[in-house]
Parts: sequence; C-alpha cells; structure tokens
Amino acid sequence: MLKDAYPYYLANDAVYANKDLDVTDKYSGDIATRVAIADVKAIDQAIAAAVEAAPQMAALAPFERQAILNHCVARFQERAEELAMALCIEAGKPIKDSRGEVARLIDTFRVAAEEAVRIEGEVLNLQISARAKGYRGFTKRVPIGPCSFISPFNFPLNLTAHKVAPAIAAGCPFVLKPASRTPIGALIIGEVLAETDLPKGAFSILPCHRDGADLFTEDERLKLLSFTGSPEVGWALKARAGKKPVVLELGGNAACVVDADADLEDAVERIVFGAFYQSGQSCIGVQRIYGHTTLYDKLKQKLVEKTRALRMGDPRDEDTFIGPMIAASEAERLEQWITEATDQGATLLCGGERDGAMLAPTLLENVPAGCRIADEEAFGPVAILAPFEDFDEVLAQINDSRFGLQAGIFTRDLYKAQQAWDTLDVGGVIIGDVPSWRVDNMPYGGVKDSGLGREGIRWAIRDMTEERLLVIRTP
Ligand code: SIN
Repeated sequence: MLKDAYPYYLANDAVYANKDLDVTDKYSGDIATRVAIADVKAIDQAIAAAVEAAPQMAALAPFERQAILNHCVARFQERAEELAMALCIEAGKPIKDSRGEVARLIDTFRVAAEEAVRIEGEVLNLQISARAKGYRGFTKRVPIGPCSFISPFNFPLNLTAHKVAPAIAAGCPFVLKPASRTPIGALIIGEVLAETDLPKGAFSILPCHRDGADLFTEDERLKLLSFTGSPEVGWALKARAGKKPVVLELGGNAACVVDADADLEDAVERIVFGAFYQSGQSCIGVQRIYGHTTLYDKLKQKLVEKTRALRMGDPRDEDTFIGPMIAASEAERLEQWITEATDQGATLLCGGERDGAMLAPTLLENVPAGCRIADEEAFGPVAILAPFEDFDEVLAQINDSRFGLQAGIFTRDLYKAQQAWDTLDVGGVIIGDVPSWRVDNMPYGGVKDSGLGREGIRWAIRDMTEERLLVIRTP
C-alpha cells in the first residue's frame, strides 16, 4: 500500500533528495518505506520561500483559500482507504481507528474551508470622551506570516491537519516538521496540497534531523511556532523560540469520574474506549479513573471484564482493538512504571504483560501517591482506579496534577456538572463522557504543563492572524 519511497516537499515541490529515513511497519518491525530527509540548507530555503510567499498568501481571497481546502477534502475522501492503511502501517494504529482519523482529517479541512470565509473584524465605538469625538474604529485580521509547525506521531494526519488547514484558511505560508516515526500522513497531505493553486513557497513539509529542527524553533523569519508533542520538548522549545508566539499542545494524565448516579454500563463502555483506543496513545486518554464508593466494586469488575476481552494483535485485522505502541522502548518504559507501582503496593487488576511493542491493556488500583503511573503522562494502555466518597474531594484530586488538558465526569446532576466546570483547572470538561472526547471544531488545549493556547480551527486562525486597527477621523 505504501510507495517504495517518499519525497519531502520544498516550496510546494516534491524533492526525492535521498532515502535516508526508514519508516517501519510498527507491527512487524520491517522497513515499510523510505523517506527523504531535509538538511539544514533545504530548511533554510523553505523558510526563505515561505517569506517570499507570504504577501501572495495574504492576497488570496477567502473564496480562493476555501477552494484550495475543498480540493483537499475531495481528494482525502477519494483516497480515504489508502490514507487509513498508511496510518495503520506507519503508526500501528488499528484499522478502525485509522479510518476514524481519516474521517476527522476530512472534518478538519471541511471546517477550515467554512471558516476561511468567516474571518471578520469589528466596528468599534471610540467616542468615549470629548477628545475622541468624530473618530471611528474598525478592525480586521491579517495573516501573521510564515508559520512553523511541528506535529506528533500519535495522529499523523489529523494533528498535522490542525496546523495546516487553519494556516491555509488564514493565509499563512508554513514549514512543517512531521514526526520522524510517522511522516507519511503529512507527506500525503503534501502530495494533495501540491495539486492546488497555492502560491509557490506556501508550504514545505520537511522530515529532518535535530540540527535542522532547531531552525523551526529559532529562525526569526518564522512568526509563530505551533508544537504538538511531549511537555518536556514543548516547554524547552518555547524557551528557545525568541520573539515569536508559541502554541503548545502537550500531554496530560486525564481523569474521569463515575459518580453515584451514572449509568454504569455506558460509563464502562466509554472508559474502556477512552483508556485503551490506539493503545492509549492520546494526550486525553483516560489515565485516572475515580468511582463513587457506592458503585466502585461493580465498576471495577466490569472494567476488568471488558478490558480483558479487548482483542490484541495485527492492526490490519478488522477486529483488533489494541495494536503495538509506537516503539518497544515506549512499552518497556510503561512496563517499568507498572512494576514501580506494584513494588510500592499497587494491585494489578489485569494486563501488565508485554511482548516487544505490544503492551496488554492494564488496570491498577491502590496506586500510592508519587508513582509515575499516577503523576506523569502514561501515553499508553494503562489506567489506574480509585474510589471516592465526596465530590468536592475528587475534584481537588483531579486538580492535584501538574497537567490540565480535559476531564470527564459521568453525572446526571446539573449542579455537579456546573461545579466541575467551575472548579477543574483544565482546558475542557466533558460531562457524560470520557475526557478523551474531541470533535475537531471545538477549542482544544490545556493549562499548566499541558500547554498554551487552543487549537480547533477558529482558535488556531486567531493565533495565525493579528488584529489590525483602522481609525478614521471625520472633522
Ligand atoms: C492529542 O493526543 O492531543 C489529540 C487527541 C485528539 O485529537 O483526539
């Protein structure tokens, strides 16, 4: 399904410079294809081309940007199965989840096409005192200029789309560094963008080594850095980004509460999905589960039953729910975190077994405070369970984390829902579902170590545009 080799894209053109990056099939471990790596010179040229393209990108009329995005939507629809299989191979993402991500890629571009013609300004009443008599104000949003994007391995298509599609809608050229382990999704997006009328230099998609990657962060010709990935890398990049604004979509250890009045069957089904889909490799995967004492034992029993029944195996198989993690080293890391917890007294309820990159979906309880599986981001198929008695206390426990991305609360009590929304120090509170729920037109992002700023097309367009004021005096 994959081609033998993929180019990088420099100023809209495919460049088959070398085949230096091996991309493996994450299930078999075999080399699936080879990709050209951009060196520092190519990245420098790409940034120069983006600077040159900026006025032409800004001059594209909104309907022209919309047409480009609509072309992408149509082509992704035509190539949906090919895109899903590419994801399945390069990320080891089960084919059903891969198809789900392609559907989201299409949504993201479709919403960006809609938003491209809705970027509006305001009429301001400036006449607040005698000295402003006769003055009127107006604002419009103008593109910020060339943008720098760094995308992660866990959603190679859709988290790339969350940067690329709003940039086109806003009229910004960009350079993008895809994750080295999963560059193919972004490169196929590049293939489709190369079919459009985007001005020369509008986009470059450049898998690269560390030396080249520094330019994405530090080069002052780039006017915005948008990074999705680990908190450690993200905050370090921000410190080196100079004057440019930075958007960081980082990790979390998302919590989910099942309160006494919850529909237990429904909550269990959603939690098993939220904790373990795509092997838990989502920033909003359920990691901490709190069950009210009145239903805790039943919740535990049902979660364990359903988790044990999840089918592990080849991600190409239609029935597979758990595929490999992105690398054996990641599965080993989590295996160590599980052992650390059990050594300190935690109870292993199910899972824990590892074979290479395959880690069985794992549930733990009685995890002592201070264990990494409780405090850090697991980013894998492991979740921990604890009972709670008091709603105020469980909200405080959720907030007792260095992260704050999303939280999920299963309750039917309107007052508790509002209390959670008021109290939780997170980017989003999801009532009646898991924190892992996201649709692509909502504001998405975190507080504390989970990041800075919001994605979700409309919010990304705000970051990629600046407000410009016009004042008119009528003497
Ligand atoms: C993420 O892992 O940050 C993205 C989750 C999603 O888009 O569903």
